[in-house]
Amino acid sequence: MRSKMTFKKNILCIGAGYVGGPTMAMIAAKCPQYKVTVVDINEKRISEWNSGRLPIYEPGLDELVTAARGRNLFFSTEIEKGIRDADIIFVSVNTPTKTFGQGAGMAADLQYWEKTARQILANSDRDKIIVEKSTLPVRTAKAMERILNSNGGTINFEVLSNPEFLAEGSAVKDLENPDRVLIGSRETKEGLKARKELVDVYANWVAHERIIESNVWSAELSKLTANAFLAQRVSSINSLSALCEVTEADINEVAYAIGTDSRIGNKFLKASVGFGGSCFKKDILNLVYICKSYGLNEVADYWDSVVRLNEWQEKRFVLNMLSNMFNTVAGKKIAVLGFAFKANTGDTRESPAIYITRGLVEERAQVNVSDPKALVNAREDLKDMREGIEFIEDPYKASEGAHAIAVLTEWDIYRKLDYKRIFDSMVKPAFIFDGRNILNHRELFDIGFNVFAIGKAPLKHF
Ligand SMILES: NC(=O)c1ccc[n+]([C@@H]2O[C@H](COP(=O)([O-])OP(=O)(O)OC[C@H]3O[C@@H](n4cnc5c(N)ncnc54)[C@H](O)[C@@H]3O)[C@@H](O)[C@H]2O)c1
Repeated sequence: MRSKMTFKKNILCIGAGYVGGPTMAMIAAKCPQYKVTVVDINEKRISEWNSGRLPIYEPGLDELVTAARGRNLFFSTEIEKGIRDADIIFVSVNTPTKTFGQGAGMAADLQYWEKTARQILANSDRDKIIVEKSTLPVRTAKAMERILNSNGGTINFEVLSNPEFLAEGSAVKDLENPDRVLIGSRETKEGLKARKELVDVYANWVAHERIIESNVWSAELSKLTANAFLAQRVSSINSLSALCEVTEADINEVAYAIGTDSRIGNKFLKASVGFGGSCFKKDILNLVYICKSYGLNEVADYWDSVVRLNEWQEKRFVLNMLSNMFNTVAGKKIAVLGFAFKANTGDTRESPAIYITRGLVEERAQVNVSDPKALVNAREDLKDMREGIEFIEDPYKASEGAHAIAVLTEWDIYRKLDYKRIFDSMVKPAFIFDGRNILNHRELFDIGFNVFAIGKAPLKHF
């Protein structure tokens, strides 16, 4: 191993998750002059990052990690040593929704965050730049600074906010070519100096006009706002999908028509079974909680409705299956195609498939869960349900003898299946519920399926 003197800077990232791992792999790949170390309390995760089988699936990530690992990218459980050696410390620990006490179910649980701040303080003997990479409530940097400066002022810690905007499933692409990188700091002499140091890291591969600088509070709030706006688009189009289903308007046609308006834009207008992922719901609830704590109840209610609409859309999907399958799914076999919250990831956190599978099992259906990358997580998510679920990776086998198919993730492979073969192996009448609008509904209807898509009039043979 090279000695640390060989490197221009030591960068540490605390938290080797979906964000910490890929972001640091990209920095290491683009900045061979820096030594990048990623640490975590989870030993299993670290050993997976050091193995041939990474703990998360992202297109292009294997190659990125393999190229830099052992050269200037290291994964370790030695957190304290990592802190001592570091010049810049990214903190990318999880910030889940609080499950207890004041703000339970809404506020961010900052216990991992605070623990990290105290650990940084206890193990630092020189000035350091601390970078908030996790998504945090606005003004968290203030709390972080208070903890870090409780040492009597001998060491200077500058806290920057550099929220991550990558999307799972395209993380490597997003990191390599980001729409923007946002860096917030205090507007003091020291704050601006620290900001410049972080700008210099990204400037190794990101064009200057794409690096946005702001005050630290704006950076913190921009991340929550971005997620709230994205989720709001999904809830807006989903709310209208329900109206389309009863009026014979087609949500794809409506989305296309409005998306050509340059003020609206055509992205994130796909009706679906609902949004999932670890961030949208958590971040909106966090925003709602902050608004409430400042007495801004109307603002809180407005954003809360985005989450409620999403929950309603998931529930509506189950009820729609039930009512169209003659008001009972008890004893019927249903193939759930796709369990990840979106395509190209194995992540199932807050996936609509969890709620829908549970709903179907509660109705006493026998559910065959299929997914190309997410079955390990699916097993974990459903481990309390002992009966009524089987996990079958092959979509043909999962659909054999089924009464219905529910497509819940927009994996490409599901677009290309031989649906005639699947239809022939199913119980009749055969139903297909396309929760992502990715299939050719007319073709499926012609094969013999009764087809129910989101935001479209059903195609039924009876
Ligand atoms: N997942 C995403 O797509 C995404 C995108 C943008 C921002 N974010 C935000 O980034 C943050 C991290 O998200 P994630 O998806 O990577 O979470 P994650 O759960 O995958 O990873 C967090 C890691 O931090 C580790 N950790 C927790 N406490 C620790 C401690 N005290 N010391 C060392 N390690 C510790 C955990 O063991 C875990 O491996 C969150 O705030 C999230 O909101 C996530």
